[in-house]
Amino acid sequence: MMVGSGMELVASPVGRRKALLEVLNGSQPWRRPVWFMRQAGRYLPEYQETRRRAGSFLELCDAPELAGEVTIQPLRRFDLDAAIVFADILLVPRALGCDLSFRENEGPVLSRVWSEKDVGGLQCDGMVERLAAVYETVRQVKASLPSHVALIGFCGGPWTVASYMIEGGSSNDRSLARRAAFERQPWFESLIDVLTETACDHLASQIEAGADVVQIFDSWAGDLDDVLRQRYCEEPIRRIVEGLGARGHTTPVIGFARGIGAGHRRFAEVSKVAAVSVEWSVPVGWMASELAPVVPVQGNLDPMAVAVGGPALRRSIEHLVRTMPADRHIFNFGHGVRPETPPAHVAETLHLIRAMDLQAREET
Ligand code: CP3
Repeated sequence: MMVGSGMELVASPVGRRKALLEVLNGSQPWRRPVWFMRQAGRYLPEYQETRRRAGSFLELCDAPELAGEVTIQPLRRFDLDAAIVFADILLVPRALGCDLSFRENEGPVLSRVWSEKDVGGLQCDGMVERLAAVYETVRQVKASLPSHVALIGFCGGPWTVASYMIEGGSSNDRSLARRAAFERQPWFESLIDVLTETACDHLASQIEAGADVVQIFDSWAGDLDDVLRQRYCEEPIRRIVEGLGARGHTTPVIGFARGIGAGHRRFAEVSKVAAVSVEWSVPVGWMASELAPVVPVQGNLDPMAVAVGGPALRRSIEHLVRTMPADRHIFNFGHGVRPETPPAHVAETLHLIRAMDLQAREET
């Protein structure tokens, strides 16, 4: 059974192109593209219901029909320009043989990697086969999306995934992982190499299954100083982008090196990603004057503004839409939707963006 059965989305008006791809390819979009990180998830009651039906978060990720259903849920409510496949960055270490579980209100727990022997024990052979459910989800969702909606595949940045593997899950300040990075531990460097190659394989498989765009979430890039960031964030992501190109994939890559501030500009230049996703602490004026001339910019509304709603939300949206040029901007949040967000505030956010974008474009 396909995802679409009984849950079709409204078809695109004839001739509607994918606004997200237009911006990523450097052309003028028919409207400013909008999607939201974690647009599928706990703030939606229908997500809670499907997750209950699946049994757990991981069982949901492993069931393509249900994962596909969850991917599409936000698109039934909101007129978004992209869907992001429902999965998790930690499915990759699990496919490499690490134990993974999610405890309620505690986040992920992973078996720890802390030596050359641990890294040597990772099972790269057959990894893509063990991630088959993700590619099947991509395939099913792709078949049910209207033509103007882009489908985004993703993976974690090697540094971020390594930090979860080294810490054995979430941690306060990634101190073990940062220590291993400063010490240039040979096993740490091997781990980064393994995760760079597996990220490339995983993204290539999502592209081959139908992803129009891929995003690399290096959520903890801001942990690394300038020297370490070049070596363990920018260089591995550059290799992933290059590796996809070497396989003949021209699919745009969005890089989310969260928390690197003024570093986004060099990150874009070095890694050659098609766009950078930016955290909310980066000044919007700087994004417009220093970053957008170099690379399209995705971001960076504080998800707290959306959870709160009201006049503060309106002011922050207006600041972004008025400051960022529509042909160099992908409207998004600076990080994922917060679980306490009322869905009506997300609807209001989208409504305000669309109205202000129209007005801004009419004025120019
Ligand atoms: O809608 C989407 O954006 C797609 C789905 C998606 C999930 N995780 C689903 C998820 C994406 C793109 C991710 C990426 C991810 N996963 C990142 C990078 C982005 C970021 O948030 O910084 C990271 C670091 C992870 C690892 C991860 N997964 C953690 C630390 C947690 C627990 C914290 C939390 O938010 O609960 C998860 C669980 C997770 N991944 C949930 C969802 C919807 C919540 C699971 C639940 O239903 O309880």
